[in-house]
Formats: sequence, C-alpha cells, structure tokens
Amino acid sequence: MIAANWKEHFTVSEASHFLHRLEEHVISHHSIEVVLFPNILTLQPLSTQLDRRKFRLGAQDGYYEDAGAYTGEVSMAMLRDLVHYVLVGHSERRHIFNESDSIIAKKTQAAVRNGIMPILCVGETLQERLANETKQVIHNQLTAGLMHLTSTEASAIVIAYEPVWAIGTGEFAKPDQVEEVILYIRKQVAELLGERAARHIRILYGGSVDDQNARSFLDIPSCDGALIGGASLNHHKFSQIVESAYRVQQNRTGKQ
Ligand code: PGA
Repeated sequence: MIAANWKEHFTVSEASHFLHRLEEHVISHHSIEVVLFPNILTLQPLSTQLDRRKFRLGAQDGYYEDAGAYTGEVSMAMLRDLVHYVLVGHSERRHIFNESDSIIAKKTQAAVRNGIMPILCVGETLQERLANETKQVIHNQLTAGLMHLTSTEASAIVIAYEPVWAIGTGEFAKPDQVEEVILYIRKQVAELLGERAARHIRILYGGSVDDQNARSFLDIPSCDGALIGGASLNHHKFSQIVESAYRVQQNRTGKQ
C-alpha cells in the first residue's frame, strides 16, 4: 500500500488540478493499492473526479462521536460513504493538537464502527529514541490505540510506524531500525490480539520517504508499504514510488 498524506493546504481547485496531474502520471497496478489523503474540504469534490481504478480516498482525521453538538468537527459517520481509510493519531495530531491515547483509541473504534479502515500512526520522538524508550513508547501507543478492538477488527486495520523525528525533516530512519520496530509491532499485536491479527495486519513505514529511498523500506520483508507526506506532492516522485512498490511486489511474487 502506498498512502499519500497531502499536507498542502489545497483549495478545491488546486487539489483537483493536482489529482489530474497524478492521474496522468501514476500507472495503476492491480496489486498496489494507492490511497490519497487530501484535506477534508476537498474530499467530496475529489471523490467525484477520482479514477477509482487508480486511487482510493482517505481522510486525515475524523471525530469519534457519530452525532451530537461538537461545533467544527467532522465525524467518522459523516465520512463513511466518502473514504476507505482514515489516519488516526498522526504525530501532528498527537503533538500539535494534543490528542491523547484515549482520544486516539476512540477514533480508531469510531472508524471501525463506521466501516472505515483506520491507519493508526505510532512513533517515538528523538528524545525518546535517544533515551532508548522507542519500544516502550510503541508498546504504550499500540496498547492504547487497539484497546477497544476485537481480534477480527484489528486484523483489518493498518499501522504506520512514523518516527516523529523523521516526519518532514528529510532525516529518515535506517531500514534496519524500521525493520526492528515493525517486527516489534507485530509481536505486540500478537500478544494483544493473537497470531492471526499479527499475520494479517498491514504495517507501513512513514517519515521522509521519497523516490530515492522508498525501495530500501519497501524491500523490508515485514513492511507492507509506505505513508508519504512531502514527496506525495510531487507527481514525478510519487509515481516513481508507486513504481518501486510494484517492482518489489513483482520480486516477491516471483520468489514464491
Ligand atoms: P513526510 O511526512 O513524508 O513529509 O516525512 C510523512 C507523514 O506526514 O505522514
């Protein structure tokens, strides 16, 4: 899976123009799911323009209550007919908007309840990595984030490992660091929800992925794809990343 977190503050016409560009450049492959996460304002108009054979839509956030007086919020229930996926617990939501683990757990649950697949984002800050706390942080975020899900529900969700220090900084994690954390995430999911969920759950890497380094992450056997911010706003880079994912897939199926 290749997920594109469009963090640009696109207007409706800018987003439409950019989608047009991507539709021209990205080659669709049956085996590679490409999901676009534009801002909430543009989701509805883009949904009518989107070539569904190429792309799926996701939301960057969603509120956890299905109904009620919550001025300004857009609920998962409102998004359900529009998107396949929703990002939950992105580091910018955790750190800029102070979203707690308990809010994130409610959002994960609300997404599942509304038939939207959450991409639960987890990752440590630089201080936490330097203090050797990476696994503890991931453990806490996973335990809290998956708290309200059954094993069957959890099997269908996606987890994105995004070290905070690698997001938007150009400083990406080394593939062996990523592999170590992904294996740890699977082990934690197995402990929390059983082996079946651990086998089925998809785990992505995110954090300064671009066309030059994507292959090194996608080649990690336990990595199921990438979540891309900055480079997803460049149609050349993004289409190259999708091609890398396709080549890795071809290699894997060739080897089986
Ligand atoms: P980046 O962003 O690729 O620009 O580091 C990743 C993200 O926002 O998920």
